[in-house]
Amino acid sequence: MRSITRLYTKLAIAVLILVLTLAAVLLYTTSKTSERYSLEITQRINRDIALHAAEDMPIFEGGVVNQAALKELAHHVMFINPIVEVYLLDLDGNILSHALPSGTVLLDRVDMKPLQEFMQGREQLPIFGNDPRNPDAGKVFSISPVQSEGEPAGYLYTVLNGRTHDGLRHSLQESYNLRAGAEVIVGSLFVAMLIGAIIFLVLTRRLQKLLIAVRSYREGSFEKPMNYVGSEPPRDELDELGNAIYAMSVRIENQFKALEDADSTRRELIANVSHDLRTPLASMQGYIETLLVKGETLSPDRRAEFLEVAHKHSKRLNNLVRELFELSKLESSTSEPCWENFSLMELLHDTVQEFTLQASERDVSISMPDIDLHSIVYADIAMIQRVLDNLLENAIRNTPRGGSISLSTTQEDKRIRVEVTDNGRGISSADIPHIFDRFYRPDDAQSSAQQGNGLGLAIVKRIMELHQSSVKVISEVDHGTSFIFWLPQRS
Ligand SMILES: Nc1ncnc2c1ncn2[C@@H]1O[C@H](COP(=O)(O)OP(=O)(O)OP(=O)(O)O)[C@@H](O)[C@H]1O
Ligand SMILES: [Mg+2]
Repeated sequence: MRSITRLYTKLAIAVLILVLTLAAVLLYTTSKTSERYSLEITQRINRDIALHAAEDMPIFEGGVVNQAALKELAHHVMFINPIVEVYLLDLDGNILSHALPSGTVLLDRVDMKPLQEFMQGREQLPIFGNDPRNPDAGKVFSISPVQSEGEPAGYLYTVLNGRTHDGLRHSLQESYNLRAGAEVIVGSLFVAMLIGAIIFLVLTRRLQKLLIAVRSYREGSFEKPMNYVGSEPPRDELDELGNAIYAMSVRIENQFKALEDADSTRRELIANVSHDLRTPLASMQGYIETLLVKGETLSPDRRAEFLEVAHKHSKRLNNLVRELFELSKLESSTSEPCWENFSLMELLHDTVQEFTLQASERDVSISMPDIDLHSIVYADIAMIQRVLDNLLENAIRNTPRGGSISLSTTQEDKRIRVEVTDNGRGISSADIPHIFDRFYRPDDAQSSAQQGNGLGLAIVKRIMELHQSSVKVISEVDHGTSFIFWLPQRS
């Protein structure tokens, strides 16, 4: 929560700084333009003030300055308009006279250039001239030529916003106009800031919601996805972030479940393997011990019988270890079929040959009625051999005397369908979903007499998966079973 508050504070401070900078810039430019505008107005209104004043009074009398007249004129003008200060200049701009308190006028001369521009009637105002009482500041002015006995003798120069005006300006204009402008600006900026603060609050609230969800997820057990309802489609990056974190948590949950499943499968496997290893081992040990202890007293037939049983168990152990090893190899991620084109007919033929003796011992016949001689498939020949071995072995083991087994192939799209069918005891519908599981053996008397390891069909299923194919079973109790799988045709 604190980090969100921190983020919110940072955002608010950033906005505050932005708003204050903007306000300062606005106030400064507004005050500058309004001042310039007021000066322009002053100069425009008072453009002819010097002219009228000069017309009214005889400033030169007999070629010399009439001080009394100038003083009267200055008082007269200042009386009407207190911001005006009057100077008499010669033709070069030297100050000849004025009516201001002595010692307050600091310049002897004013620059004539802006004054000339003014007299030539330049339209663009304000024009700034020197203020003899304040040499650093340019002031708006009015100027008019003055004659003495019909000849140009100098200029009447009036500074329009003299010292009196300076004082007034600070106390009046700035305080009133600017304050009014400043109030509007500050008011609207304050409203903008308020809206900004609300927007940030709304935005950070969503972020805060997400943060709370992530925190409680982190503190949880990762077994459930994060408690967060995102928006789909996302409205912005924040929604996208939330959705991405949620998707991540779902993935973690799945992996967690997969890990748990793998763990329980591993436990189950160890339990099954140790049970399956222990039974034949204990039995073998029993027979061998009997032979060791009573060997001398046993008849040769009995001894042979004991050895036979011990041999049978050792064969079963060997078989179990071989199948386990095979299955674990097939299930490792590095296991890949060794793809090649080969004749399916030849493989089926060889496999049948291999099982003929075993089948005839049990009085079971194997036939291959309609094999297509030309079916070439693309697969791992050793793996497919293993599939056929397992299926035929199962068929022989589960078919009673006098039964029959048949192999057939059919073309289906670009695949060959291979079918191993027997008319044996069949599989109950309750067992069918499980027969491809590792160590699954239907729990009945006959099958326990047969004593397989329950790994053959798991191996078949895994081999088919590696071939991106599948295997399925159709069976009816006491009628028979069909195992069907598909192989890709020649590449
Ligand atoms: N053709 C069949 N007819 C009837 N039941 C079958 C047939 N094929 C398989 N089964 C049943 O499915 C079970 C699992 O077969 P699977 O081949 O996986 O194991 P298994 O044959 O018992 O042992 P092994 O690991 O030696 O192959 C068998 O125990 C058997 O009960
Ligand atoms: Mg089997």
